[in-house]
Amino acid sequence: MASYAITGASRGIGLEFVRQLAANENNTVLAIVRNPESQAISELAASSPQRDVTDPKSILDAASAAAAITGGKLDVLIHNSNAVDVATVGLSPSQIPVDTEATRKSFEPSLYTGVYGSLWATNAFLPLIEKGGQKKIVHISSGMADFGLIRKAGITYGVGYSAAKAAMNVQVAKYAVELAPKGIKVLALSPGWVDTWDMGEKPAEVVQATSGMLSLFRAVEPELKGQIQPEESVRKCLQVIRDLDAESSGMFLSHNGNQTNWF
Ligand SMILES: NC(=O)c1ccc[n+]([C@@H]2O[C@H](COP(=O)([O-])OP(=O)(O)OC[C@H]3O[C@@H](n4cnc5c(N)ncnc54)[C@H](OP(=O)(O)O)[C@@H]3O)[C@@H](O)[C@H]2O)c1
Repeated sequence: MASYAITGASRGIGLEFVRQLAANENNTVLAIVRNPESQAISELAASSPQRDVTDPKSILDAASAAAAITGGKLDVLIHNSNAVDVATVGLSPSQIPVDTEATRKSFEPSLYTGVYGSLWATNAFLPLIEKGGQKKIVHISSGMADFGLIRKAGITYGVGYSAAKAAMNVQVAKYAVELAPKGIKVLALSPGWVDTWDMGEKPAEVVQATSGMLSLFRAVEPELKGQIQPEESVRKCLQVIRDLDAESSGMFLSHNGNQTNWF
């Protein structure tokens, strides 16, 4: 029997983690969501406490609630939550105004979820992980933080998002070094390029943006067909998480388990 806590579990990849893990009835799966009304979540997971990873008290409360369910221990924490400032995500770095408020507005959603939120979630759940059997902490990152991919595909937009994920990766490496003596393994894991649009028909701008990304990504992988589905992404991510050991702790890997194939 293994226990898992997943942040950002309301939809997309986070919800698929809950689905696949909850399919094994020996698992205890804690879905950490902002909106506990989600029907899919309440049917699947042992608990869906309402928590915001950008609020330190909220994530500490989530860890206390988790400890009460699991007897104070946790095998695997998956920090999956993410937010971006939709209004400015399409800007290249030189287009971001030299203005404190405008820059904060552009960067903060990603910094709060990807950097501060991942640190707070890790520290809040650390006492449970120390008592767990597997002792694994996984931060869901993105290939958009890989220098090689940025340079080869020529991706100039998503500055705050990519910078926050790159900072997350550095934080992961530092955690891995610090926590190694306790037998705790930490990983930054990119889930691939995943179609998580589940709100009915895709708006034209989403279709257009996806097609633009496909053209850029083909500079890296000419045969690339398009996005993968959450089922494939999470199935492969779970294999990488199963393989995580002291040797790979601190690394930034793709769902393919390497640093070369981000799709
Ligand atoms: N999809 C891709 O192609 C792709 C590629 C590379 C990396 N990733 C990474 O994979 C992860 C999942 O991505 P996704 O595409 O499934 O969806 P997403 O839209 O990035 O997922 C956002 C999730 O995070 C939650 N969230 C946002 N702000 C939060 C906060 N302050 N506190 C707690 N939860 C918060 C959302 O909850 P609400 O429902 O409450 O808003 C939602 O469950 C993210 O870390 C993303 O960066 C995705």
